[in-house]
Amino acid sequence: MHKIAMLGTGLIGRFYTMSLLNFRGKDQIVVTCANTKDEAEKFAREFVIPKYTADMAEAIRDPEVDTVVIGLPNYLHKKAALLAIEAGKAVLCTKPLATNSSDALEMFEAAEKTNIFHGYLEDLVYTPKTLKALDAAHNGALGKILWARSRETHAGPHSDWFWSKELSGGGAIVDMGCHCIEIARSFIGKGIQPTEVTCWADTQVHPIDVEDHAIGLVRYENSAIGQFEVSWSFRGGMDLRDEIAGTEGTIWLNHWLRTGFEMFTSVGQSGYVAEKAEGETGWLFPVGDEVGSLGYVEMFLDMFNSMDKGTPPKEDFYDGYIVNAIIDACYKSVKSKKWEPVELKYWRGGQISQKEKGLKEYDDQHYLIKEEKMPDGRLKVILKDKKTGTFSQVIKD
Ligand SMILES: NC(=O)c1ccc[n+]([C@@H]2O[C@H](COP(=O)([O-])OP(=O)(O)OC[C@H]3O[C@@H](n4cnc5c(N)ncnc54)[C@H](O)[C@@H]3O)[C@@H](O)[C@H]2O)c1
Repeated sequence: MHKIAMLGTGLIGRFYTMSLLNFRGKDQIVVTCANTKDEAEKFAREFVIPKYTADMAEAIRDPEVDTVVIGLPNYLHKKAALLAIEAGKAVLCTKPLATNSSDALEMFEAAEKTNIFHGYLEDLVYTPKTLKALDAAHNGALGKILWARSRETHAGPHSDWFWSKELSGGGAIVDMGCHCIEIARSFIGKGIQPTEVTCWADTQVHPIDVEDHAIGLVRYENSAIGQFEVSWSFRGGMDLRDEIAGTEGTIWLNHWLRTGFEMFTSVGQSGYVAEKAEGETGWLFPVGDEVGSLGYVEMFLDMFNSMDKGTPPKEDFYDGYIVNAIIDACYKSVKSKKWEPVELKYWRGGQISQKEKGLKEYDDQHYLIKEEKMPDGRLKVILKDKKTGTFSQVIKD
């Protein structure tokens, strides 16, 4: 059983609390913290949390607490994590780990040095669909992963601090690119090093100093490519999709707008529909179980079960640091308009878990390029001569 300090009672504090209260039935949030005592008290009353405060150090140092969950604005992650580590408490931090990679590195190094359990709360690699898709990919169902594309777009975040570069560290790339980068990295293989990036970003709509739209490519050492597409200017709700392409297969995942629950109402229901839904009437795309669909439940199961077993969770501060390093390279590329290297102080390598599929043999003399059934019913086989390099085709009736 763990005793938790929940730092932050906003959108993510609420989702985390709903997940934690429901999932293992044995952990307890003993103190909650918000910017004002009133906000913390209101939240504590709603979720029957015994203590509340507006002082994060007080919540972290509470002697009952053994685990600190950070759901605060980005600029406070480092301060909260270092306080938790100093107090000897396990620390679980939401995404992005930090506003830049040097802060992320400091957090990672502090946790490692003191042997404190650290988890990076990247929920979108824990959605039930993603877990199943990752299993399939890692078991070789897609062959070698060539391209992992991940997209998160909506009409912009729900709190003032996200829009300020000083408090958030950046725009849509920091806010949502972090999810997409880690999703692509998880499919491509965490043991495969991200080497360089190219990125376009612009501020197309809002009067802000950060990007509200960006597209980036992350190249990996085995030539796989991760692609992210993020926007704070996209209308129509939250579009959350992934596409994975390998030498032997493809996966398409749609997490939000088209999940199989579509509803039309001309009058509305006077209530919340789903995160970032833009309206309450017309065609709506509600989500049955938001905390489950977004991966929070599986994520906390992994975090707390790993903590109990004394093993690292699937996502820890090292992963958060890699993501922040990729994001830093993206911002360099936006400025230079060139490919920029991903600079990592630590690269730990790891298992390349996909089966590498090599060239396909057709016979002693040829490689098989492809086979296709034509509209006339015949099979066309395209071949390449191993010695001369010439292409030929065989048509089979
Ligand atoms: N899918 C996800 O993993 C996901 C989704 C949304 C947000 N987030 C992340 O969660 C973090 C918080 O985002 P949010 O959407 O909940 O923001 P929010 O604005 O809804 O809530 C922020 C909370 O932090 C509290 N807070 C602010 N300053 C504080 C201080 N000095 N001391 C104590 N409390 C303070 C506020 O009172 C509020 O309760 C961000 O890092 C964001 O990127 C993650």
